Amino acid sequence: MNILILGSGGREHALAWKVKQSPKCGQIFIAPGNGGTDKVGTNLDLDAKNFAKVESAIKEHDIKMLIVGPEDPLVNGIVDHFRAKSEFDNLKIIGPDAEGAKLEGSKEYAKEFMKRHDIPTADSRTVTMENLQEITKYMERWDPPYVLKADGLAGGKGVIITEELRDARESLRDLVEGRKFGKASEKVLLEQFLKGIEVSFFVITDGNDYRILPEAKDYKRIGERDTGLNTGGMGAVSPVLFADRAFKEKVNTRIIKPTIEGLKKEGVKYCGFIFFGLINVGGDPFVIEYNVRMGDPETEVVLPRIKTDFLDLLIAAADQKLYDTEIEYERFTASTVVYVSRGYPEFYEKGHEISVGDIRSVLPFHAGTKKQEGKLVTNGGRVIALTGLGKNLGEALSKSYSGGENIDWEGKRFRGDIGFDLKELGQ
Ligand code: AMP
Ligand code: GLY
Repeated sequence: MNILILGSGGREHALAWKVKQSPKCGQIFIAPGNGGTDKVGTNLDLDAKNFAKVESAIKEHDIKMLIVGPEDPLVNGIVDHFRAKSEFDNLKIIGPDAEGAKLEGSKEYAKEFMKRHDIPTADSRTVTMENLQEITKYMERWDPPYVLKADGLAGGKGVIITEELRDARESLRDLVEGRKFGKASEKVLLEQFLKGIEVSFFVITDGNDYRILPEAKDYKRIGERDTGLNTGGMGAVSPVLFADRAFKEKVNTRIIKPTIEGLKKEGVKYCGFIFFGLINVGGDPFVIEYNVRMGDPETEVVLPRIKTDFLDLLIAAADQKLYDTEIEYERFTASTVVYVSRGYPEFYEKGHEISVGDIRSVLPFHAGTKKQEGKLVTNGGRVIALTGLGKNLGEALSKSYSGGENIDWEGKRFRGDIGFDLKELGQ
């Protein structure tokens, strides 16, 4: 079976690496891919936003399965595009249609959905130009910290958390009145702050059944001990031991099950991944966000921990036969450390040559890399994620870090404390 994966990050490299292990996997194409994905398959120089180009590639390469990595094409209806054409009836697609993708594409939609289905989440108010004055005033009665979320996609930058009422008011005006993220911040959610530790859960679903993938914790801030600006993710760990059996049971019965049943009741045909961003508040899970795709860099620790043939799971999902599958996990711990460009997540340079020594102790998942005149050079903020596997967190992390000593470029940066909070909890 020939497979096309859309995207260019560490997530897509990990997806390609994983499906490649299946005996059912034929040729793999990654579009546009990066300087590492071309070792697993063939990179296609096309933009996922251009559905017509994706369509031609599918025909030309006899693609039988399309896996959509990032959220943008999903929110913009790539699945609807193919579902509307009978010639693609047999194309297996991993990813929801635009209706399902609203779970990520609109924070307000997600919030209303959770309210309709009694899924635990932070209380919130929607702010638009109509009630901006009223809400800015009323914020006095809201306890800090203030959480503001742009309704639409804002490239991971749409959440602002501040202790100061004055800053919160100014940010709110900036977002709604100043349209800081254009249409994406026309609406903003003012949300109750949830105090607790974060953990992410992932499922693959065919709309009826689902299988829970290994959980993970990622580290979004640029600075050590979770300080500084938000990034796409600087590292991740799986498993997360505070998410014990009792906690997982709550996540399943209070959150995952009602989400899948809610989608079904509302007539949303959902085939793909759902990523549940959760906060553990005193032992109870609350949803802070849904994503309609896998996480990056979470995928780089989640997939290595799946023992089951992953392509079999994806085929079953696309054929609505997940009921017929079982998922088995590996018992080891996986950690990944993301090595980034100096300046990231703000302005950073590209085009630095990457020297790679002996990194056989890790699984290298490329992100912002490309080949240029036969050399591997940096091509993004997050350059490469190095995944270590070990019998515990310490062992996995020591591999991720020692691997990092053998890869270099001008201005390489990373966080040296991935997993710090889990270690403090005894993991
Ligand atoms: P998101 O872009 O939705 O992943 O949010 C970015 C980060 O903001 C999350 O990873 C959390 O650390 C934090 N966050 C979001 N919502 C809340 C909330 N209601 N309470 C506390 N922290 C939050
Ligand atoms: N690492 C967070 C995300 O993929 O959204």
